[in-house]
Amino acid sequence: MRFPFTEDLPKKLMRKPAAEALAAMFAAGDEEGINLYAQSGYRSYETQVSLFASYVERDGIEAANKYSARPGESEHQSGLTMDVTSPDVSFLLNEDFGETPEGKWLAEHCGDFGFIIRYPNGKESITQYQYEPWHIRYVGKKAAQTIMSQQITLEEYVESLSE
Ligand code: DAL
Ligand code: ZN
Repeated sequence: MRFPFTEDLPKKLMRKPAAEALAAMFAAGDEEGINLYAQSGYRSYETQVSLFASYVERDGIEAANKYSARPGESEHQSGLTMDVTSPDVSFLLNEDFGETPEGKWLAEHCGDFGFIIRYPNGKESITQYQYEPWHIRYVGKKAAQTIMSQQITLEEYVESLSE
């Protein structure tokens, strides 16, 4: 996987099936000139504690709750999530990433590799988080293809299974 940094950090990690799927997706992107980079994957509980505390300090708790999970609630702790980005947005994680060729390709193809855009635009009332075009979550191909092709959230998909 490509990272925009060289240090050997825990955030480079993912669980194996997710990591293999991400590598396959990056390879497929490469063939189409799509320059995806992995920015942040696994986080420990302790890391989320300090991240969340720093966000609260900076923006206040109400704002922080819209873009950051509380300790114990982040998908990054599961090892199934990676934040991805591209050179066009200077490797930042922001909404502009969704408008880059990489962000558009990701939304179009990630389902075929078992990933979903976990916090889509316009679904804030369901996910409880702001739009994050960079945050992908591994759910396996079947669920991911359904979620991405129907433009629904993981919450709506899980709900539909019990109907
Ligand atoms: N930014 C997402 C919600 C997280 O903190 O896990
Ligand atoms: Zn994320």
